[in-house]
This record gives sequence, structure tokens and C-alpha cells, in this order.
Amino acid sequence: MPFIIAIDGPAASGKGTIARALSQHFGFHHLDTGLLYRATGAKGGDAVAAAQALAPEDLARPDLRSAEAGQAASRIAAIPEVRAALVEFQHRFAAQEPGAVLDGRDIGTVICPGAQVKLYVVASDEVRAARRAAELGEDPARMLAELRERDLRDSQRAAAPLRPAADAVVLDTSDLSIADAISRAIAAVDVALRTV
Ligand code: C5P
Repeated sequence: MPFIIAIDGPAASGKGTIARALSQHFGFHHLDTGLLYRATGAKGGDAVAAAQALAPEDLARPDLRSAEAGQAASRIAAIPEVRAALVEFQHRFAAQEPGAVLDGRDIGTVICPGAQVKLYVVASDEVRAARRAAELGEDPARMLAELRERDLRDSQRAAAPLRPAADAVVLDTSDLSIADAISRAIAAVDVALRTV
């Protein structure tokens, strides 16, 4: 049975960095599920049709990382039919041997509720805004407003809202270096690996 690591949390909490590091460390496949929603939003037109027709090349678009693409993603991600259209791809990805790391908003709660490890990665709003501003070369105050708007929409929607699974390990990266955040995540996975 493949080993699944589910990583959820708000925007710029560090979950993507941790997910990539865990996939490298353990030799698991990695899927940034936010890209599915970003690519669907970026296609424009009817969002449900866009999600149903999503192709691997759509995920390689160069403009998906922008704040605008994040906002568009968050708007279409609230549509239940869009989410439903993306479930099967995520399930197939998660079923790959020897294991997979998926990061997003609803991986531990909806997509892979049976994941052997669930991490919920958080950081203060100010730290997240500063990180995103440095990454995108944007103004921190604008990023703070953007992240707050997106987190509010993501956590208040009816369909698969952003929230920790009951059995998730919460990792606050506000005051941690990247190396420390990664070692704590590796330690959490090591504990679970010892019991399988
Ligand atoms: O993680 P990222 O910031 O790329 O995600 C963009 C948007 O996609 C999020 O704000 C959220 O609305 C949506 N999303 C989601 N479920 C996921 C991953 C992302 O609703 N599993």
C-alpha cells in the first residue's frame, strides 16, 4: 500500500517547501494541488468545463504563480463541481508507489482522509505576507491583504473548506528556519513510518 503524506495550510505557510523536501527525502511523488486550481482558473471560460478538460500541459503555464492566478483559483475552488472534477486525478496520483506527498487545502480532510501522515502548516499573517512579497517581488502590504482575502474565502466556503484534519500535526513555521521546519516534518513522517 502506498504511503501518503497530506499537507494542508493557508497560502505561503511553507507547505510547498516542506512538501518538496519530504518528497525528495523519502523518494515519494509530489503534487502541488494548488496548481490544479490555478490552472483551471487561468483557462478562463466555464470553470467546470475547464476543470474537466484540464491537461498536464495546462499545469506548465508560466503565469500560474502570480497573486492574480491565486485569487482566480480561490474563486473557482469554491465551486463544488470544479472540486469534484479534480478528485480522480488526485486519487490516482496519491495511489502511486512507493508513496506520495500532496499539498493543498483539503488533502487530509477530503482527498486523502486515510493518509498515514497529515501535517497542517501555519505561520503568522505577517510572516506569510513577507515571504510571498519576497518570492514575487511584490509589496508586503498588498500581499497581506491578498492572503487574508484568499484565506477567508478558502476557510469559509461550504465545499471542502480550509481546516486541519482532527488527527493532523500542526506545524507553525513563523519562527522556524526552512531547515528546522523540514526536520520537524521529517521527524513526524519517521514516527509514522515506524508503525507501518
Ligand atoms: O496553494 P495555492 O496557493 O497554489 O492554491 C491556490 C488556491 O487554490 C487556494 O487559495 C485555494 O482556493 C485553492 N486550493 C484548494 N484546494 C487545494 C489546493 C488549492 O481549494 N487542495
